Amino acid sequence: MFNRRGFLMGSVALSSVALATSAAAKPFLLRRDPLIEGLLRRMTLEEKAGQLSIFTAVGGAPINPAEGLNPSAKAVLAQVRDGLTTGYLGSFDVAYLRSLQKIAVEESRLKIPLIFAADVIHGLKTVYPIPLGEAASFDVELCRRTARATAQEASGFGVHWTFAPMVDVARDQRWGRVAEGAGEDPWLGSRIAEARVRGFQGEDLKAEGSLLSCPKHFAGYGAVQGGMDYNTAEISEVTLRQVHLPPFKAAFDAGALTTMSSFNDINGVPSTGSRRLLTEILRDEWRFGGLVVSDFMSDKELIDHGFAADDADAALKALWAGCDISMQSGLYLKHVPALVRSGRLSEKVVDEAVRRVLGVKKAIGLFDNPYRALDPARRAKVEGTADMIALAREAGRKSIVLLKNDDAILPLAKTGKAIAFIGPFVSNKANEFGAWAYAGDTSKTVSLQEAVRNALGPDAQVTFTEGCKPTRPIDGGLEAAKAAALRADIAVVYVGELSSSTGEAASTISITLPAPQQALVEAVAATGKPVVVLLKHGRALALSGAVTSAKAIVCTWFLGSQSGNAIADVLFGDFAPQGRLPVSFPRASGQEPFYYNHRPTGRPQTDAMTMFKARYTEEPNQALFPFGHGLGYSRIDYGKTEAAAPTMARKGSVKVRATVTNAGSRAQHEVAQLYVHLRTASITQPVRVLRGVQHLDLEPGTSAVVEFEVAAEDLGYVHADLRESADPGVVDLWVAPSAVAGQAATLTVI
Ligand code: BGC
Repeated sequence: MFNRRGFLMGSVALSSVALATSAAAKPFLLRRDPLIEGLLRRMTLEEKAGQLSIFTAVGGAPINPAEGLNPSAKAVLAQVRDGLTTGYLGSFDVAYLRSLQKIAVEESRLKIPLIFAADVIHGLKTVYPIPLGEAASFDVELCRRTARATAQEASGFGVHWTFAPMVDVARDQRWGRVAEGAGEDPWLGSRIAEARVRGFQGEDLKAEGSLLSCPKHFAGYGAVQGGMDYNTAEISEVTLRQVHLPPFKAAFDAGALTTMSSFNDINGVPSTGSRRLLTEILRDEWRFGGLVVSDFMSDKELIDHGFAADDADAALKALWAGCDISMQSGLYLKHVPALVRSGRLSEKVVDEAVRRVLGVKKAIGLFDNPYRALDPARRAKVEGTADMIALAREAGRKSIVLLKNDDAILPLAKTGKAIAFIGPFVSNKANEFGAWAYAGDTSKTVSLQEAVRNALGPDAQVTFTEGCKPTRPIDGGLEAAKAAALRADIAVVYVGELSSSTGEAASTISITLPAPQQALVEAVAATGKPVVVLLKHGRALALSGAVTSAKAIVCTWFLGSQSGNAIADVLFGDFAPQGRLPVSFPRASGQEPFYYNHRPTGRPQTDAMTMFKARYTEEPNQALFPFGHGLGYSRIDYGKTEAAAPTMARKGSVKVRATVTNAGSRAQHEVAQLYVHLRTASITQPVRVLRGVQHLDLEPGTSAVVEFEVAAEDLGYVHADLRESADPGVVDLWVAPSAVAGQAATLTVI
């Protein structure tokens, strides 16, 4: 797959971390284990089916309480005692979970410990930026650190297994789940996937502060048609392997022992029933030795897909395909024993799945210490520590992307100017977390208003005006906003999406600002005062009107517990922005799916005016703000890209470099990117693809030579025979600040 060497930080190679990964990346192999084999010999078919079934917890703090599906609290106790479940998901109630574990290991016949899972995606009590926001840091080490801190905290709240990271490559911003992943690029997505796995799992999976990770959703979920959640996906196997699978492979190579099958079908075969995906590719080809869990009810959904006839058929097809654990439907529990007894399902298939489940439980130390993560005394020690709060602020600052900064309006001076903060989010604490941070306490977040007051002190000339609600106008709101702007020197307008408009089941037809908020920005801009727009969002947005013509535009995503402080740090220049877009900003919703690494066409658009070219009539194809783009407070210039040699042998490598200069007057952290393009290929290749990132700190007036080593694997692609290799031919290379910038070098592969 891809080359890991491309990710460097300053002059220090981050590959020290990457190398550690490769060392730890020995595939998890299922050796016959005497303990597990002994259990298997004693297990009834019902107990085996129990080990292959997980349910949402009741009695604690349940999530997703699908009406009528959750067993009652009393039924849970019986289920545990009878060995009819492998574990529970969604509770952080340590005392409750501990009491269940006690029953499992003391009162059940075989004393097999339960495993407790939860969606701990971007923090638990301490909330870090949404994964898409954090991906904008382009900083894999940061991603590893927040995942590590998340594991430390969540493992104090009864969690053994997190259903994270989400590693779906998402190229359509209408899909709400874009917010949960690392954006549109497979290479960046792969590096972040492996970093997050390393962070969650730590060095030792059995250690107290480690979480078992579950890269999801396997596979192709980001390609659902029209960006509509749960929709069907049509993906050629070449594209599947080149775009959608690499982050999974990277995550498994980094040591992930579990994965979750996705809700969607690919070319008519639902992932949860796809033996091609779950067995042939995952196990036979990749030698993945861990377990596959279905998504929530996705085994039962095989019926709605039109793939299975009834519940028993769905259980049969999912388990046969390679889906080891049924999440929430109870279908395995209900039907697997009978399927075996009737001869429709071989017990060997069941045993193999049970082996994998017990193997993973053993690998995380549950047989040695079933009470790991269930110590109420530890919870208080790991909840919201000062280090975690500091990390949330650091991650928040580093996730912010400055899209535009005309006349260097930012940073704002802390004194001397009156600033009107306007918009539905300026004082709002309830909407800082984003999707999936359901266990954090929103009252403990820092709102922008609080942060500004903290940063500027009580005498600052600042006002805070709501102007409108996120999705509706308020009486007199626009007038109040205009009046506030007129009394000030600068208006900072904070607009965007609600947390609930992003994430699962939050696909949207239009990725624009809600109309009342657009009207608010227009009204404020009409005062003639300089406007800074702060965007709150879980996807790339199609910006227009007064937003695009504002002096400055700042992406703030959903930044979590320290949101206000992180934004204020950047606004007032205590921290210079350094984030880069992990998703392209289109000009209009109708351009989606819109991504930088698209294939060329036979009629590429050359300029906006030419007819009979591949473009829409209303807008040019160029992104409003491209992938990789992000400004700082200084001016950075890139020299020409140079290759150390004009040719490269197919198995060789070549150094490629460019001089990067800080021509401004402030220190700047720069994120240099390496892009490649294969001019000819037997399957046409994208106009550019990212193959490396380097972080460097540049003092004003200084330059640095940024150098990447380009090797065959960076120039390879998946051929029609599904093998990945490099061809001879001409390659364009850019060392550049974004996916559309830079001066290319060429290289001939011979
Ligand atoms: C989501 C998964 C999640 C699961 C369990 C599903 O609806 O698609 O991402 O892990 O629920 O909560």
